Amino acid sequence: MPLSKNTILIVGASRGLGHALASEFLTRGWTVIGTVRGDGRTQLHDLADSSAGRLAIEVLDINDAGQIAGLRQRLSGRVLDAVFVNSGTTTSDPLACVGDVPVREFVDVMVTNALSPMLVIEALQDLVSADGLIGAMSSGQGSIANNTTGSREVYRASKAALNQLMRSFAAREEQRSRAFVLMAPGWIRTGLGGPDAPFGMEEAVPAIVDVLLAKRERSGLEYLDRFGAQVPW
Ligand SMILES: NC(=O)c1ccc[n+]([C@@H]2O[C@H](COP(=O)([O-])OP(=O)(O)OC[C@H]3O[C@@H](n4cnc5c(N)ncnc54)[C@H](OP(=O)(O)O)[C@@H]3O)[C@@H](O)[C@H]2O)c1
Repeated sequence: MPLSKNTILIVGASRGLGHALASEFLTRGWTVIGTVRGDGRTQLHDLADSSAGRLAIEVLDINDAGQIAGLRQRLSGRVLDAVFVNSGTTTSDPLACVGDVPVREFVDVMVTNALSPMLVIEALQDLVSADGLIGAMSSGQGSIANNTTGSREVYRASKAALNQLMRSFAAREEQRSRAFVLMAPGWIRTGLGGPDAPFGMEEAVPAIVDVLLAKRERSGLEYLDRFGAQVPW
């Protein structure tokens, strides 16, 4: 892969927002490493084919500790300017109340949305440059302060847990100058967001990337929407 000044690792880039983020970072001249699950062909492979070698694909299921360790091993010696964990999921019935969600499904959403992103960040953070950015895709629904309407109970809880774990991680790292971000992108039409979401990826993703790039200038952790405004915790 040719070297370019800036390299981002986007975890969970097969489709949806992760794929669109990969495309937008390429447009802005970055080198991108994007991850997919399994060995099937995805939209990211099509993007790689048209990237003139600036997009590399790695395989990672974030719920598989062995695969996280393998990716860390393969990336040894690389310097990353940003790591962004985008992967996420929800319950099979997104509107189910917590008591109606089978325990296995509850655990799967919590592990995928809260624990595994942190395991990825813990494993890869030493590859991120001193002035680099470490981020994860949260959601406005992870805000406890803003939850006055309820609904999407397990998803909300998983993103609130992610936010709390990132705060603990950032607190451990406060002696260093790196920037940390939890992104609340808004409700966007994707597989997860569904067809009724008010915004398309084409309008949301450039704004998200603007916010991520600007955040690199400010160390410490912030929970931001795609307009760069702080989201109440
Ligand atoms: N769309 C919205 O309105 C919205 C709003 C707020 C926050 N978000 C967050 O944005 C992120 C992306 O969501 P999206 O809307 O783009 O949804 P999406 O189209 O359903 O994409 C989800 C992505 O996460 C990946 N993923 C899921 N589980 C994974 C695992 N165990 N290991 C690795 N990758 C995994 C998927 O990979 P596969 O293709 O292999 O399944 C896919 O690339 C999520 O964190 C979501 O919670 C979305």
